[in-house]
Amino acid sequence: MSETHWTEGEIVALKARGERAFLVPLARGPTRIHDRGVIDLSGQIGRSPGETIEWLGTRYQVVRPSPADRLAAIKRGAQIVTPKDAAQLVFLAAVTPGARVAEAGSGSGALTIALACAVGPEGHVTSFDRRVDFLEAARANVVRAGLESRVTFRERDVAQEGIDLTHLDSVVLDLPNPWDVLASAHLALAVGGYAATYTPTYNQLERAVGAFRSVGFDEVRAVEVIERGLSVNEGATRPAFEMLGHTGFLAVGRRVG
Ligand SMILES: C[S@@+](CC[C@H](N)C(=O)[O-])C[C@H]1O[C@@H](n2cnc3c(N)ncnc32)[C@H](O)[C@@H]1O
Repeated sequence: MSETHWTEGEIVALKARGERAFLVPLARGPTRIHDRGVIDLSGQIGRSPGETIEWLGTRYQVVRPSPADRLAAIKRGAQIVTPKDAAQLVFLAAVTPGARVAEAGSGSGALTIALACAVGPEGHVTSFDRRVDFLEAARANVVRAGLESRVTFRERDVAQEGIDLTHLDSVVLDLPNPWDVLASAHLALAVGGYAATYTPTYNQLERAVGAFRSVGFDEVRAVEVIERGLSVNEGATRPAFEMLGHTGFLAVGRRVG
């Protein structure tokens, strides 16, 4: 990857030391960056990632956006899946390079971005939502992240109409009633594929896990990811004072023959 060259239209990250990177489309000619000013990155087209530029008195390196950079750039509408949970969902649902994945609902597209990063350029994510406004919000965030070629957005109520795809590697559900979708998810998966759910309450988790079991999923289990930041300074290393107390519970099951 490090030997590739930038092409026009790609999303790049501008990274200054000590600051969070921000995303910019690599365009020919001046580009307006919201709240920052105008930049011309034409000279980077055809160059390798990692070069240094100077803009408005600050030195930036033009680097490939990380999944964290892409997630940090989203505009929030619906409650998003946080990076700690998205990372675990990617692992639990076996979302690997080249995978074909279905997701519902799209919401703000945060989880969509994590899934699209994980499937790589050879994989694909179909993201369903029953609300057009959320589909549009998610699509805009996925475009901002530069991952639109890996995602198809579709308006569909998957609890009512099911998932009309087959031989999927993974199905990931972040909607209020995943138990209404798991039978359809089971049918949509290839044998050996995984479905995973994300639910904010214990009540929803119980119903989801009950549905995983009754539908016939194997390897059913549930986890909660608790992340505690650490303040690391020589002789004074300790847990961070602030912590995100609760996000959601994750459950997973595997389709077997
Ligand atoms: C909490 S949001 C998803 C957030 C998203 N995972 C993210 O990280 O940005 C839940 C979404 O599920 C959608 N939804 C709820 N029930 C649905 C259904 N039966 N079929 C499709 N989408 C549904 C809602 O419209 C909403 O956009």
